[in-house]
Amino acid sequence: MIEAYQAQCQNRVDAALERLFVAPQPELQRLYQAMRYSVTNGGKRVRPLLAYAACEALGGNVEHANGAACAVELIHAYSLVHDDLPAMDDDDLRRGKPTTHKAFDEAAAILAGDGLQTLAFEVLGNAELNPHSAELRLAMIATLARASGPAGMVGGQAIDLGSVGQALDQAALENMHRHKTGALIEASVALGALASGNADPATLAALQRYAQAIGLAFQVQDDILDIESDTHTLGKTQGKDQANDKPTYPAILGLQNAKGYALELRDQALAALEDLGSPAEPLRMLARYIVERRH
Ligand code: IPE
Ligand code: IPE
Ligand code: MG
Ligand code: MG
Ligand code: MG
Repeated sequence: MIEAYQAQCQNRVDAALERLFVAPQPELQRLYQAMRYSVTNGGKRVRPLLAYAACEALGGNVEHANGAACAVELIHAYSLVHDDLPAMDDDDLRRGKPTTHKAFDEAAAILAGDGLQTLAFEVLGNAELNPHSAELRLAMIATLARASGPAGMVGGQAIDLGSVGQALDQAALENMHRHKTGALIEASVALGALASGNADPATLAALQRYAQAIGLAFQVQDDILDIESDTHTLGKTQGKDQANDKPTYPAILGLQNAKGYALELRDQALAALEDLGSPAEPLRMLARYIVERRH
């Protein structure tokens, strides 16, 4: 069931993304190639799926969430390209293939990340790619900018790099995870809800509680898989957190407690959707998937 939904959403967002990587002149061929390489390489597309599912939960037309879905995946892909750089996590493998700086070079990876980031906002601002009123497009741009910038993902990455080798307590770890991973996941749900054109404040608040819980659960599961899975299944080097001396949930709580915590967060997310009825079924399915996934 989740597989079919995932495939359908992946095809939809991949078709929309594909159109963005056409170099406008031959001199930009390599830059566009590096951007395309960083995006069209088999990601799970969890953030676009969340945007589509949130739009559906509010009775919106999913085709109107294509701009939101592309934008959150572009930011995510950029964050991974930079996360893998030698100055950050120094990873050679991503989604089962050499990381962008390995396949191209470091300067190309930095520029590809920069290009993906700004392209996300270009998409949201464009009335053809994101067919909503100027007011709604501005709200989407502001939401995504805040979630991906220094008060969101970039801030989380800074905390992450500043925490290497330190024994964080659970509150500090949670603060880091909510920024580096949770913020963009929350924005994915918020943008999808805005794209429905039907987002009332009470429903938006319920969706935000859902997104906060799964955003944290997503990174808890990422930390668990870094220990439990293998490089082939993950498509990225297993054991990297320990090798880089990163504070993680399993490191602080122990593996079993971390697993229990992920399930507790899933239940919190499901409880937040209680009043939303059957259109929210894809969101429920995604909450379960996020803590059950094996990669
Ligand atoms: C990995 O994200 C990085 C984190 C924020 C934990 P995903 O697990 O969504 O990576 P892809 O997009 O499927 O490769
Ligand atoms: C990355 O967290 C979060 C980002 C904002 C990219 P990780 O460093 O744990 O992600 P992976 O494990 O390399 O995918
Ligand atoms: Mg990292
Ligand atoms: Mg990393
Ligand atoms: Mg990780």
